[in-house]
Amino acid sequence: MALVPLKKRRRAPSPPAGPPGPGRFPDVVLCLVEKRMGASRRAFLTQLAWAKGFRVDRAYSAAVTHVVSEQNSGAEVAQWLEQQREECGDGGDPALLDISWFTESMGAGRPVEIESRHRLRVAELAPHGRQMAPYACQRRTPLLHSNQPLTDVLEDGVCAEVERVKLSERYRTMKLFTKIFGVGVRTASRWYQEGLRTLLDLQERNTKLTRQQQAGLRHYGDLNTPVERSEAESTSRAVQEAVKRFLPGASVTLAGGFRRGKPRGHDVDLLLTHPEEGREVGLLSRVVSWLDSQGLILYQHSQENSYGLREGPEPLGGRDVMDRFERCFSIFRLEAQGGPGAPRGWKAVRVDLVVAPVSQFPFALLGWTGSRHFERELRRFASRERKMVLNSHALYDTRQNLFLPATSEEEIFEHLGLEYVPPAQRNA
Ligand code: UTP
Ligand code: MN
Repeated sequence: MALVPLKKRRRAPSPPAGPPGPGRFPDVVLCLVEKRMGASRRAFLTQLAWAKGFRVDRAYSAAVTHVVSEQNSGAEVAQWLEQQREECGDGGDPALLDISWFTESMGAGRPVEIESRHRLRVAELAPHGRQMAPYACQRRTPLLHSNQPLTDVLEDGVCAEVERVKLSERYRTMKLFTKIFGVGVRTASRWYQEGLRTLLDLQERNTKLTRQQQAGLRHYGDLNTPVERSEAESTSRAVQEAVKRFLPGASVTLAGGFRRGKPRGHDVDLLLTHPEEGREVGLLSRVVSWLDSQGLILYQHSQENSYGLREGPEPLGGRDVMDRFERCFSIFRLEAQGGPGAPRGWKAVRVDLVVAPVSQFPFALLGWTGSRHFERELRRFASRERKMVLNSHALYDTRQNLFLPATSEEEIFEHLGLEYVPPAQRNA
């Protein structure tokens, strides 16, 4: 019943549709903080609140009265708010609330009164004098809590309405489809509108799939099973061996979450380089062909290097700038680690191979180590505080109009005037 108007709104080609006007509670305008909540959960909670007649704005503005976040500290949300205010050039003084206020309100079908337990701890808030380092790249963030079970009403099953929406056909289907390697929200949504609901539907109804999506579908189960550290290491060894055959002296470095000390991840990120600039050219295709001939590659597509320093500094563009390295997106066929007891002899694992000329290697390593949030903050810091452009290829000083070379990550931090943050502390 409450979902009827929502369905009408969903005629728009890509989900979710915009906010549905003023809502049933004109004094309440919500804004959900995406950090730690994640984009898909945020989208889901937004739809839930819309269905309940709440106004939820995508972007922060002075109109927002309630900022809701999940698993963030008061300091983090205060920092977020400060940034939003700066970006929208307007103030506003919303209540900073924990998800508990949101779930109770959804359960009650109206905004419940704000109690102190709903508020993020004021003591933790960064005062305007800024006691706390404002950028994540100035702080040390260990892994610690990343594997803690979510303190999440969805899992606890406290809120029946939440459960109902979560189980809704559209939500389930979108989730199913977007977990296919090579399928984004737009494609998933189109398929949903075409009436497709299951993986079997995709196969049986001759849906047009790219080669990447076909591979994603074929290895759906494996690619949605976390990659263990031991698997990442054995992938790295296999690539190392291949590299040694064609270019002794070249190195293979495990980056991404594993370099930050995560015990498991969604893929394996490997960086290739050689201490003599230029020797790395041509290496990747040989390595990939050889691995392929050994039956180790289930899928791959490669992209050439398209970066030229002579073009001058790359424009900053969005915050998540794609880099231009020669790169291979692949799926490896990894021998099972589990020994004879393993249910099957092999497992499909997503692997990214990235080739960096040695002069760009420290930047590539820094960029590919993550976390994504840490990288965004580092780039934001460079740009705002230092008027420098940082990406995975270089650091450019716009005041002096010159590139600042580096032979290690430490030197990049030095150029930026930042204390060095080791990989294990970049889990922001
Ligand atoms: P990942 O998406 O692999 O994240 O990107 P992760 O931290 O390793 O997490 P899991 O464990 O696999 O889920 C790793 C880093 O590489 C950068 C990202 O910004 C991130 O910091 N990256 C990724 C790029 O620079 N370009 C890309 O195309 C992909
Ligand atoms: Mn990764």
